[in-house]
Amino acid sequence: CRTRHYTFNIEYLNVTRLCHTRTILSVNGKFPGPRLVAREGDTVLVKVVNHISNNVTIHWHGIRQKTTGWSDGPAYITQCPIQTNQTYTYNFTITGQRGTLFWHAHISWLRATLYGPIIILPKHNESYPFQKPYKEIPILLGEWFNVDPEAVINQALQTGGGPNVSDAYTINGLPGPFYNCSSKDTFKLKVKPNKTYLLRIINAALNEELFFSIANHTLTVVEADARYIKPFNTDTILITPGQTTNVLLKTKSYSPNNTFLMIARPYITGRGTFDNSTPAGFLQYKQHNSSTKNLPFLTPTLPSLNDTNFVSNFTKKFKNLANSKFPINVPKKIDKSFFFTVGLGTNPCPKNTTCQGPNNNTKFAASVNNFSFVLPSVSIMQAYYFGKSNGVYKTDFPETPLNPFNYTGTPPNNTMVNNDTKLVVLKFNTSVELVLQDTNILGAESHPLHLHGYDFFVVGQGFGNYDPNKDPAKFNLVDPVERNTVGVPAGGWVAIRFFADNPGVWFMHCHLDIHTSWGLRMAWLVLDGSESNQKLQPPPSDLPKC
Ligand code: C2O
Repeated sequence: CRTRHYTFNIEYLNVTRLCHTRTILSVNGKFPGPRLVAREGDTVLVKVVNHISNNVTIHWHGIRQKTTGWSDGPAYITQCPIQTNQTYTYNFTITGQRGTLFWHAHISWLRATLYGPIIILPKHNESYPFQKPYKEIPILLGEWFNVDPEAVINQALQTGGGPNVSDAYTINGLPGPFYNCSSKDTFKLKVKPNKTYLLRIINAALNEELFFSIANHTLTVVEADARYIKPFNTDTILITPGQTTNVLLKTKSYSPNNTFLMIARPYITGRGTFDNSTPAGFLQYKQHNSSTKNLPFLTPTLPSLNDTNFVSNFTKKFKNLANSKFPINVPKKIDKSFFFTVGLGTNPCPKNTTCQGPNNNTKFAASVNNFSFVLPSVSIMQAYYFGKSNGVYKTDFPETPLNPFNYTGTPPNNTMVNNDTKLVVLKFNTSVELVLQDTNILGAESHPLHLHGYDFFVVGQGFGNYDPNKDPAKFNLVDPVERNTVGVPAGGWVAIRFFADNPGVWFMHCHLDIHTSWGLRMAWLVLDGSESNQKLQPPPSDLPKC
């Protein structure tokens, strides 16, 4: 194992897309940002230097950060932001994970352009539990705005209405040939015939779950969120924001210049507004020196925009590899059960203003168990660690909804949420079961829930209301997929389990940024264990102050 050093300079960069030139925020002048590459077991030090006028933090999405919560990155949860001209070094060790994750800014909507891949290779002398790929290619799915994304979210929060949608979806930062002015801005993957490629697919989009498919080629899914799974074949994958999926692509014996479209397209469960152009890239069989302009290509067929059944069947195909080399430890006896409703709601409009929220002069909000989480102006974990929690947060987040209703039936008349900063406190190593139930308040909608600091086992999912008397009998405790982000199905529920073996304050939120901004977020406080390696490490000396 070794130590790998990176420097991330947060700096401005001029980028032109769709004939609009905009100054965006970048890491080291790259968009999408640079790759962070390490092996399982390595320690990674990333010195982040803030050269821009915004406050910034970087989150290493999916990295477990065992006892190193100070390096997790969500602003006001584990750290104060890195201010202009300040530096902070994130320092973490990668244990028990291999595959693809990604890093992104974790304050407001800065992650719109501040994101890049994390590639975790197996340890030296260890191989993949699948065919060795000829080449490995990161595929980052994202969104492009012609205006500053900060203006979009600030306007949405001020008016209380929905945000303007992005102007393009992108593949590795490029919109592709179906957008205005973009035929040159098209991602091209040039391949050789009869080889195996590993595509490391990352959904870094702000607000869109996406289907991804390549015409005439089968994808073999082998990893999810940096955990091996039992391989399965599919023509199309569904990937939510926050998820990473590794697939093998076996090229065929096509002759040079044969060209196939790869397409990423939204999966829409609740909303009417999205960018309905199609982001695309090319998979092209290699040839020598002749021109590649204006070649005919084949287009894949994708599921329809709201194909909930496809998504439900697809997600059921994920089974943990769970073999003797990669055994798993699923909690069987549960110490603490939680039932959280997740969904939309409203807040009142301030006096003498007009708001553009859903029912008559309200503001959109979103909540967990009807609590819309308010971010404090100091860091929760610093307040906890230094015994200054008074007035920063409360520890009585409800374990079940205060006012239960028929979550998939007629929604309650009162859509108002409570606004507060409440945590759940867990003793070290508590075995937790958490059922997440989508509500029908202002419409059923899929919510990709992301938990920081943990991978959890997805033991069950279903449509309708979760039934505590019947559904647990169907749970998969043998080979459930282990991940850090799971889609709570529109009009349904998902059940996850984990051991609370990582002390610290851990954010959990919908990875659709508009829902996070509206308050679909909460946090867990996991207490120290008794052994020295079960305690949250002391904060580094350069930890930013608020
Ligand atoms: Cu990738 Cu808290 O998020």
